[in-house]
This record gives sequence, C-alpha cells and structure tokens, in this order.
Amino acid sequence: MDTQKYLIEHKKNLLEISEKFGTPTYVYFEEILHENVQKYFDAFNNYGKFKLVYAYKANTNIEICKILKNLNVRADVVSAGELHIAKHIGLNPNDVLFTSNGKTDESIESALNFGCIINIDGFEEIKNIDEISKRLDKKPKISFRINPEVNPHTHDKIATGVKESKFGINIRQAIEAYKLAREKNFEILGIHCHIGSQITEIEPFIEETKKISNIVIDLHEIGINLKFVDLGGGLGIDYLHDGNYNGLTHNLLANGIVPLIENLNKILGYEVELLLEPGRSIVGNAGVLLTKVLSIKRTPYKKFINVDAGFNDLIRPAMYDAYHKILNLNDLSEGDEIFEIVGNLCESGDILGRARRIVAKRNDILAILDTGAYGFSMSSNYNSMPKPAEILIGKDKKVKVLREMENLAALIR
Ligand SMILES: Cc1ncc(COP(=O)(O)O)c(C=O)c1O
Repeated sequence: MDTQKYLIEHKKNLLEISEKFGTPTYVYFEEILHENVQKYFDAFNNYGKFKLVYAYKANTNIEICKILKNLNVRADVVSAGELHIAKHIGLNPNDVLFTSNGKTDESIESALNFGCIINIDGFEEIKNIDEISKRLDKKPKISFRINPEVNPHTHDKIATGVKESKFGINIRQAIEAYKLAREKNFEILGIHCHIGSQITEIEPFIEETKKISNIVIDLHEIGINLKFVDLGGGLGIDYLHDGNYNGLTHNLLANGIVPLIENLNKILGYEVELLLEPGRSIVGNAGVLLTKVLSIKRTPYKKFINVDAGFNDLIRPAMYDAYHKILNLNDLSEGDEIFEIVGNLCESGDILGRARRIVAKRNDILAILDTGAYGFSMSSNYNSMPKPAEILIGKDKKVKVLREMENLAALIR
C-alpha cells in the first residue's frame, strides 16, 4: 500500500483528529499494520517453521501489541517494562524472547518467573542467570545473542552487529558460550543475532545467515541441537516516497534467507524454526505524527516553520539524521519556498525536516510520515513537554484513543 496516498485519502479524518484531540498527536492505521504483518507471512509462507516476532521497542503501545498478538505475532522484549506488557496482554511465555545487553536482577527474575526465553548477551550473564535461577528453583530457557561481525550498511547508530558493537557474544566465542551453558541447568533453545536497522540490501542478511548457520552446524557436531535461529529485525522501509524505492522487499529477504536455512536443515537432519523480529517494517509506515504550525519566520539566511512537536516527540531526525516526509494536510501544493521545519525545544538540533519545499501558515496541520516506529516509544518530557496523544484508526474506520495527551498535572505528579 502506498502510505502517502493512504494518508491523503484520510486527510479529512486526520484533520478532525487534530481538532478533537489536539497536537502533537500520533495516529496509527490498523489496516496498514495488518498489511505489514501479512507481507511477512506471505513472503515466508513456504517455510513451515517461520515465526514472526515483533520488536516491542519500535512501539509498545499496548493496543498495537494486542493487535499484533491477535495476528499471531510473538514478542521481542528488552526490559522488565516490555516484558510486563507482553505478560499483561497474555502472550505465551514460549513466544517471548527477552534480549538485553544489561539485565537487572529484577528483570532476570521476572523472565524466569514468567518462563520466557532469555537471550544471553555475555559470559558473565551465564553466571548471573545460573545463580538467580538456582535461587528461584527455575530452569532457564535460553538462547545466545551472537555478534556476527557483519556490516549492515546503515547509519552507524543503528548498526548493531559490527565487531565493535556492545551487543552479543562475539562470533569467535560462540561455541565456548554454548559449552558453558551446557554445564548449567539450562534448556538451550536457540541462537539469535540482530545486525542493525533500516537495512536495504540483502547481502548483510546473507552473510549473517551463513555465519550463524556455521555456528549451528558446529554446535550440532558437539551434540547441541538448537530449536530456533533468530536472525533479528532490520528490514528497511521507504521513507522518501519519491517513487524510486529499490530497497529490500519481504520477498527478496525470504528468497535470500530461506534457501540457506533449508541447506542448514539438510546438514542437521531436522528443521529449525526461523524467527525474524522486525519492528520498523511492522509499525513504521502505520503511523503519522500530526503537528500544528505555530509561526513562520523568514530571516535573511533561512526560513523556518515553527511547529508544536519537537525531538521530544520524534527524535529520529535529530538522533539519526533521519528523513521523514512532511505534508501539510491543509495545503498539499508545493509552493516555491524552502523551509526548515523546526520544533519548539530550546535546541538548535531540534529540526524535524530540513530544506523542505512546502506551503504553510499558522494553525495548519502537518503530517510527519512513517513515524509509527521509534516515534512515541523514544519520546520524552524534555523541556517539560507533555507527551503526545496516540490514536488508532481501526480497520472498521472507527477512531479510538489509545493514550490521551499528557496534561500539565502529569508533569508535577
Ligand atoms: C535485538 C533487536 N531486535 C529487533 C530490532 C528491530 O529492528 P527493526 O526495527 O530495524 O526491524 C531491534 C532494533 O534495534 C533490536 O535491537
């Protein structure tokens, strides 16, 4: 689905939402969420043991998590908080993978009590989990996060499987880690890696799959037979909407990975479960941030559109130099002026869109596209800004408030 077109079709609805619930406000589209999930299941439907796991960090709004659970999507959680949400909405513990490079005792205890899979990130953690599980009299279900030393060709801050990364056990130490785990009272279930985010080429995924397959084979040879291989998330999305997107598609991803996993299965003599844990490609284009124009400023050097959202609401442009398309829902004409679209925080870096050809006047509503992932979930109260509202447009076209806009009272609670 062309989400820009979809948005324009829903323009009236979005303007009504901004009027009724105020701005800044995130709006999510259930129809697009469903479509995004279906794309994965369609692309991987010839691999019987394919499991889709949603990376909660992308957007942990509880209703979004519930919708995904009802679509048979599992959960990748990274904190006691995300674990709590997965538990609260009734996910089966076996469908939840707890990954983090720094796990508190409390989060390990919660994971053990819940019975989900703990994805171990380092050698010391083997010891920590062993001690806590003995104290609680639990048998941990585990996998290891492996750093495969793969360059995903993406922004440095979202490359997670390069050799200098803080995440995972280095590939050269993988076998040693599994051998150590075998000496403990652990149920060893799988192997995991996540090489990065917003990846638009197949090659890094192929390299990752080959490297991980080799470890699985080496483990098989020493009698450790893994049930699942989790290749992480990372599939990129089209942020530009310029009609020229030639990035990775779900089908290309499946065509690249599945034959390698089938080869692996032949060598092992059994079928592994193949897990992918996307976040961005599930919720990214299913969300839009609505923000109101507060004023227009023309200096001798630059022109600015001041809006009522900032990097407290959407940090991706400031943090990752990310591009998000921005449309004026009140006036879609192009105009001939170029503006910086800036937030109202006391920070020079609070720029939501650079050099945009757009027409705007006070009180117009701008839609910042593709903000369903790493939008609200990375928001903050910086400058004592209340957090935005979150609204869902359901498949039935009904508007549902998922979270009301924070009020000033919340700031002094
Ligand atoms: C461990 C892990 N899995 C999955 C994801 C989801 O990645 P993406 O949103 O790029 O699909 C992330 C994101 O950083 C992650 O750290």
